[in-house]
Amino acid sequence: MATPAPIERTRVAIVGGGPAGLLLSHLLHTSGIDHVVLESRSRDEIYRTTRAGILEASSVSTLADAGMDRVLREGDRHDGIALRFDGESHRIDLHGLTGSAVWLYPQTEVFTDLADRAAETGTDVRWQASVTEVLDIHTDSPGVRWTDAEGGSGGTERELRCDVLVGTDGSHSTCRHSLPEDVRRHFVHEYPYAWFGVIVEAPRSAPELVYTTSEHGFALISQRTDTHQRLYFQCDPDEDPAGWSDDRVWHELQRRVAGTDGFRLLEGPVQERSVLRFRSSVVEPVRHGRMLLAGDAAHTVPPTGAKGLNLALADVVVLHDVLTTWFARRERDEALLDEYGRRVSERVWRAQHFSAWMSRMLHTHPGESGFEHRRRIAELRTLVASEAGRRYLAEGYTGWGSVLPGRTTEGAM
Ligand code: PHB
Repeated sequence: MATPAPIERTRVAIVGGGPAGLLLSHLLHTSGIDHVVLESRSRDEIYRTTRAGILEASSVSTLADAGMDRVLREGDRHDGIALRFDGESHRIDLHGLTGSAVWLYPQTEVFTDLADRAAETGTDVRWQASVTEVLDIHTDSPGVRWTDAEGGSGGTERELRCDVLVGTDGSHSTCRHSLPEDVRRHFVHEYPYAWFGVIVEAPRSAPELVYTTSEHGFALISQRTDTHQRLYFQCDPDEDPAGWSDDRVWHELQRRVAGTDGFRLLEGPVQERSVLRFRSSVVEPVRHGRMLLAGDAAHTVPPTGAKGLNLALADVVVLHDVLTTWFARRERDEALLDEYGRRVSERVWRAQHFSAWMSRMLHTHPGESGFEHRRRIAELRTLVASEAGRRYLAEGYTGWGSVLPGRTTEGAM
C-alpha cells in the first residue's frame, strides 16, 4: 500500500483558481501571506471557457494597480451603450452621465493575466487539484482533502491544513455546501429564460454594445475583436444549441434587432454556440468559522447587468484587506472576519437588484401579456426620455461611483 502523503500546512487555502482566487492569491503574495490555491480544472480548460466581457472602471483599476495593466492597452474602453426597443436605438452616455466608463476585456484575458502573474511570482497554484472534502471549519485548523491529477480519477489523496479557508470555487462551490444547513440562508431567484450565446467571425455591427428587446425577445450585441463578435439572444433554458444552423442563428438575431432605421448585423460563420442558464442567488453568511466565500461561490447574477466578475473582484479586494488586518493581530477573533461580509453585502445586493431589474425590463417573459409587453416598452421609454433615468442606469452599469483608472477613488463605493 502507498504511504499516505504528509499533511501540508499554509496560512490561507484558496479553493478555486478562477479570477477571484487568483486575484486573492496575488494580493496575499504582495502582503507576504503564505497560501496555496487548489483548482480542479487545468489552466487550459479555464482558458477555453468563453465568459462575459465587461469590466467596471474600479475592476480595471484593481488589476492595473496590482501590476496587470494589459487591460489599459488592449481592452476597449466603452463610454456608452445602446438600449434598443421598438426598432430604435437610444444611447446611454455612460461617461457623460457618470464621468466613468466600462472596459470590454473578456474574463479569459483577466484570467490569463492573473495566471501568468502567478507563474512569474512562483505562487503555489495547483491545477487539476480536486477538493473532495472540507474539514473542520469550526476549529482553528480547517482544511481540505484533495486529489491531484496523477493517475486520473485515482489520483493521490492529500490533506492541506490552514488558518483560514477561502472558497472561490464558483457557482457549484464545494465550500458553500459545507456551510451547515442550520446557519445557511440561500436567496435564489430563477428566470424562465436563458441566453443563447455565439461567437461569430464577422466585423463589429455597432460601435458600442446594444441591448435590445423586441416582440421576439431580448438580444445583446457585444464584441470581441475586429474579426470576432460575441452575440446573445434570449432562449428557452432547455434549448439545444446543436439544433441551430448558422442561418437559423442569424435569422433569429436579425429579427430581434430589426427596425425602422434599417439596422442589420454583419454576418459571418458561427464558431461557438452554447446556452447559458442564469439565476440570481446570494448565500449568507459568507463567513462561518474559519471559512469565507467570495465571488460566484457566494452570489451569482444574471449576465444582463454585466456584474458577475466585477462583484467577484470587489469581494476579493475587501477580503484581502480584512485578512491582512486579521493576520496582523495576535488574537484570532473570528468575529473580526465578519467585517468582510458587512463590507461587501451592500454592493452585492445593489448588483442583484440592478441585474434583476435589467433582466426583467429587457426580456420577454414566456406567455407575457400584451399589457406587460407594452408596460416594459413604456418603462424603457420613460427611462431614456429622462436624464435622471439614463443616469440611474449609467450609475448601476458603471458600478456606482466607480472612478476611471488613475483618478482618486474618494467617494467610490
Ligand atoms: C459579453 O461581452 O460577453 C457580455 C457583455 C455584456 C453583458 C454580458 C456579456 O451584459
